[in-house]
Amino acid sequence: MQNFVFHNPTKVIFGQGSIPKIGNEIAKYGIKRVLLLAGKGSIKTNGVYEQVVESLRESHIDWVEHWGVRPNPVLSHAIEGIKIVREENLQGILAVGGGSVIDEAKSIAAGFYLDNLWDAFERKVEIEKALPVFTVLTISATCSEMDPYAVLTNEKENKKWNIGGFPLYPKVSIIDPSVQSTLPWEQTVYGAIDALSHIMEFYFQSKGEEPTTSINETLILTIFNSVDQLQTNPLDYKARSALSWSAVLALNGISGAGLYGGDWACHTIEHGISALHPEVAHGAGLAVVFPAWIKYIHTLNEMQFLRWAKVIFGKNNVDSAILALKEKYKSWGSPVSLRDLGIFKEEIPLIAENVYQAYSIRTIGVLKNLDLNDIIEILKIAY
Ligand code: NZQ
Ligand code: ZN
Repeated sequence: MQNFVFHNPTKVIFGQGSIPKIGNEIAKYGIKRVLLLAGKGSIKTNGVYEQVVESLRESHIDWVEHWGVRPNPVLSHAIEGIKIVREENLQGILAVGGGSVIDEAKSIAAGFYLDNLWDAFERKVEIEKALPVFTVLTISATCSEMDPYAVLTNEKENKKWNIGGFPLYPKVSIIDPSVQSTLPWEQTVYGAIDALSHIMEFYFQSKGEEPTTSINETLILTIFNSVDQLQTNPLDYKARSALSWSAVLALNGISGAGLYGGDWACHTIEHGISALHPEVAHGAGLAVVFPAWIKYIHTLNEMQFLRWAKVIFGKNNVDSAILALKEKYKSWGSPVSLRDLGIFKEEIPLIAENVYQAYSIRTIGVLKNLDLNDIIEILKIAY
């Protein structure tokens, strides 16, 4: 097992009925005024907004609202948020929503202390401090609720890039899985596929390290079962909470402990796809890229891919397991090819070049350090 540091400072309050605790948690930090950041408005129709503002009122916390965070959030909207925080003398950010809202909250929190937020994404400056971020999660997927990362799209440059840093861990995250029963079915699926992909980014780097490798297998199987159950009954709280907690464990440090930092090529490739096609949900893009990447790469760590085939799907070869993975995703209604996403074959070189821009700040992939041609070949398999 590789040496590692595990230090996750986020306090998680998990379970049905926990949203009213948010005001008191924020008040413990001596905060009197926050930016309430939200998306398009689902929180107004499912009762989450009411619970949050009632709790803020009870704890005597004032708030200013900034609506309209898009799925695949954009830089310009985050910059507007920074302006509001400065003008209104706000002391922290309360993200109420999914990964997109939380990521933008973290970006605003870091950008408050920077001359130019995008410099952090370009790795020109380090994130040394950030305003405190609190979250009320409404979709389980990214683990942004308990990780130190944020992803934004610079829409002028078509770059979907990330930042990371210890100050970006949320101070407190509230996870009430029951509020996710209002999710459109495909969002539940894309969230689950994102969580599965986080686990697999680490898992395929493994050389059999325990207990992390077996924990990851359990998480994969738990997510499969939970989504199957939710497909029958979206109100199944047991399944919804199993999915929610698995999605947290997928990227809060547990699934990666000792596994060499993970590979992350599939994520970088997917971010290139959704940079050019913002209508593509992150999980949908991963459902397309991951099976293709496995096909392209598996001989480089064959033992581990064979273990995956056997333990997860009961198969004796990787090709059959790839087919089984795609069948599983298809059975949930997910796209599994670029064609399914409505992307044309002619776009492959453009997407590959977009992905390859990230090479200016870091390498792409660890099992194989991918060059432009590798990315094109993976996208061709994904077509
Ligand atoms: O806009 P609203 O009204 O909030 O609607 C959202 C949005 O349309 C809706 N939704 C959320 N909760 C709901 C709900 N609708 C009904 N009922 C509810 N309870 O779902 C849609 C998707 O929300 P979004 O926040 O975009 O989803 P997700 O959590 O999957 O976040 C995706 C973003 O996170 C990034 C992705 O690239 C993408 O930009 N990632 C962030 C990571 C991180 N911070 O660690 C890691 C990931 O790998 C990922 O890259
Ligand atoms: Zn992801």
